[in-house]
Amino acid sequence: QPPQVLAGKKVAITAGPTREALDPVRYLSNHSSGKMGFAIAAAAARAGAEVTLIAGPVRLDTPAGVKRVDVVSTDEMLSAAEQAADESDLFIAAAAVVDFRPAIVADQKIKKEDGNDSDVLRLVKNPDIVATIAGRKDKRPFVVGFAAETEKVIEHAKGKLARKNLDMIVANDVSDPEGGFNSDRNQVTVIDQQGERTLPAALKTELATELVRQIAERAFPAG
Ligand code: C5P
Repeated sequence: QPPQVLAGKKVAITAGPTREALDPVRYLSNHSSGKMGFAIAAAAARAGAEVTLIAGPVRLDTPAGVKRVDVVSTDEMLSAAEQAADESDLFIAAAAVVDFRPAIVADQKIKKEDGNDSDVLRLVKNPDIVATIAGRKDKRPFVVGFAAETEKVIEHAKGKLARKNLDMIVANDVSDPEGGFNSDRNQVTVIDQQGERTLPAALKTELATELVRQIAERAFPAG
């Protein structure tokens, strides 16, 4: 059993993609596997935390000892996250949230025969879940975000840390063959106000244990 660095702590974690309906048979989403978020949930539970895992549509088993809340859309993920965050000491946003959703969800299947030749979809911006939680005045947990980038990784991650008012961000170069969306491995750099630390490339499961240790050290320095 690893050191109980999160003993007695309540942790909420978002993971996987969200999915936005266009009509009853179609949706917008992305290739997030949810592996990193699920690995962190498992590691947090092993470290003694009471974990709520808010999961978008993924094909992964629920880690041992973790309470799972399944959601589909971004709005559902936001509601579940707000509710879990109310009672959490730590909030970790590992989900790949769909940035835009269709302005109108058609109640019948959209037909190409109906004169729909181009510009069929109008999109509106989704709420930013982690920025909403981090922007709280009241009941604000320690907030950790992720930044999946393909260039200027550290610079972009630092921008997100500041813009979203996060306490810590985990930067991830998804163009690196050592990591990314569907890979079992990952390499990340942890950034906060104090500085940055690049962790060695590792299996997502091993990396999750080290990440939980790094997060706990910053979030709960007294131990
Ligand atoms: O998509 P982006 O690079 O801005 O994501 C950075 C962080 O913000 C991630 O932790 C992600 O889970 C979170 N996020 C969110 N809600 C969004 C978009 C991103 O919680 N609508």
